[in-house]
Amino acid sequence: MEPTIHHGLAGVYFAESDICHIDGERGELFYRGYDIRDLTEATYVEVVYLLWHGELPTAKQLEDFRAELVPHYPIPDKVMELLLCLPPGTDPMHMLQAAAAMLAAFDQNPDEIDPDNLRRIGLSLVVQFPNLVATFERLRRGEAPLEPRSDLGLAGNFLWMLNGEVPNDAAIRVLNTALLLHAEHGSNASTFTARTSASTLTDAYSAIAAAVGSLKGPLHGGANEAVMRTLEQIGSVEKIEQYVLDTLAKPRGRVMGFGHRVYRVLDPRGKILRDVAEKLAETSSEAKYFHMSLEMERVMEREMNARGKSNIRANLDFFSASVYRMLGIPVDMYTPVFAVARVSGWMAHLYEQYADNHLVRPRLQYRGELGKRFVPLAERG
Ligand code: SDX
Repeated sequence: MEPTIHHGLAGVYFAESDICHIDGERGELFYRGYDIRDLTEATYVEVVYLLWHGELPTAKQLEDFRAELVPHYPIPDKVMELLLCLPPGTDPMHMLQAAAAMLAAFDQNPDEIDPDNLRRIGLSLVVQFPNLVATFERLRRGEAPLEPRSDLGLAGNFLWMLNGEVPNDAAIRVLNTALLLHAEHGSNASTFTARTSASTLTDAYSAIAAAVGSLKGPLHGGANEAVMRTLEQIGSVEKIEQYVLDTLAKPRGRVMGFGHRVYRVLDPRGKILRDVAEKLAETSSEAKYFHMSLEMERVMEREMNARGKSNIRANLDFFSASVYRMLGIPVDMYTPVFAVARVSGWMAHLYEQYADNHLVRPRLQYRGELGKRFVPLAERG
């Protein structure tokens, strides 16, 4: 009997998990049982603790957790040399993937996959990623890297190390919300990549480097940058409608930032980020891109409804683009910021995968010829 092919493993369940529940029909998202809409009251580091430990931290637990992160801030000297030797124009995601793999070389115990060693590596990656991204941006601007400040948390330090200015509370609040919204999302392509890598019992650094590569793609984490590039190319609110109509008229035309493999309604994270962007737009000089985004969402909703595809709605990446623009984050840094957030979710899934491992190895249905006769090279003409 011919097997059923599930293209892109759509709808296939490959393991059980306690980390994240997505209700695609109702547009709801839960991390360890907490509704994402409630978690926007927390900080990103609180949510990292939740993802790893299964419960929100008490004040003391959070203080201790933050203290555990501090020693992991410094970028190893040789990794810093890597950042300095990369050619101008290097894609920040290539930098991040290379650095993630290189960090293993400077870790005294990179290969052990027991829970304590994995947690130590997780703590390091959660602060190394923002540090690497911010430092890389300053180096390519010809500016000296900045040391993290003890009076700022993870989100505040990222903005400080990126821009060299102490960020205001509003910007820190916005980035915390954006980071926690991007932290985790079940078996998305990059998390599945991480779990598939870990299922061979390779080390955590190798699995995370693989996940960075997967996130980079424009159908996944690269979509936020693609959204902003599209808005820049269109240029004005007035040209949005024609762009959408022209794009939808093309075979397999895709408007970046819309649609999702699981959500059949508006991505709850997209709605939260739309509200955040609306607040930022009240005072931002870059509000134009948010207004263009609202117009694009209006036209897409009308056109998708007209095509009987009302399930195609704005996703997480759509409004994150205008939020990052208004935070002053460079466009090619949007996906690295996604990786800064998602590395915590990837690590949560690695803990789960290693703890109850089964090698991930699906099948391909062979449709070629069989039994072909081998002809020696001399006789092949
Ligand atoms: C993320 O998985 C996750 O959880 C990911 C993520 C996370 O937190 O990790 O949520 C983050 O990656 C969000 C998605 C970001 N990507 C984009 O915005 C890229 C644009 N979106 C599409 O490429 C698409 O919607 C996907 C890739 C997101 C989902 O693809 P599917 O599930 O394979 O659906 P599909 O491409 O087969 O589309 C089904 C139909 C299409 O019909 P056909 O053209 O094949 O006849 O839906 C329509 C399309 O008509 N459609 C779109 C569309 N997305 C789907 N039409 C126009 N524009 C789009 N963006």
